[in-house]
Amino acid sequence: MKTILVVQGKGGGPKTATARNLAVAAAVAGLRVGTLDTDPQGSLTFWHGQRPGDAVVIAHEHRLLSAIDRAPTPDGLDLLVIDTPTAIEVFPGPTAILFDSADLVLAPVRPGPEDLVSMDAMLPYLRARRRPIRLLLSQIQPRLRETVDAREIVGRMGTLAPVMIPQLQEVPRSFTAGLGTAEIAGTRTGPLFRDLWAYLAEEMGI
Ligand SMILES: Nc1ncnc2c1ncn2[C@@H]1O[C@H](COP(=O)(O)OP(=O)(O)OP(=O)(O)O)[C@@H](O)[C@H]1O
Ligand SMILES: [Mg+2]
Repeated sequence: MKTILVVQGKGGGPKTATARNLAVAAAVAGLRVGTLDTDPQGSLTFWHGQRPGDAVVIAHEHRLLSAIDRAPTPDGLDLLVIDTPTAIEVFPGPTAILFDSADLVLAPVRPGPEDLVSMDAMLPYLRARRRPIRLLLSQIQPRLRETVDAREIVGRMGTLAPVMIPQLQEVPRSFTAGLGTAEIAGTRTGPLFRDLWAYLAEEMGI
């Protein structure tokens, strides 16, 4: 089983949107996927509870970060996607366990200046964990100058995923429906999350 840990320093990251859409993209690609929600807010758990009965199966567990005392090892999965709360540094022990269990750390970043500053501040911590890190520009507006600038800035911080996720209302709508956009026909971000999964799968040697 491979594990992807989704982290970001700034609230509203978009960590949960990335975790659930990636999980769905991998499940649609045929993997046995599970999600682990370590955030007390439980957004991912709510989303999972909304999944329609005929949607592709995703296993799910809600275990608070504070309660993580060993690496998660769920049975019968090919991929585990872990969603985290914002202030992971509040629980250094559990956070270290999750990092150690991760085959890849995925950090979504929005192109706004506050997010870039927050990501920059988090980088020393991320690098110190010595796990492969991929940065994902998300909630972008392609035509804005800030997007071009952010691509350059984030590209200097580390390895950028070759996919950028645009800011589109289909993403929050899919939250309420308990879906990922990769399983909704005609979405624009669906194919992008599939491409993101294909890229990460190759990076992890799946
Ligand atoms: N590509 C997108 N386009 C439009 N809205 C988005 C997109 N990605 C995420 N959002 C929305 O942005 C908000 C924050 O996203 P999300 O909940 O994923 O962030 P988060 O990092 O998990 O936040 P928290 O720190 O509170 O857990 C949500 O309303 C979500 O639906
Ligand atoms: Mg969240």
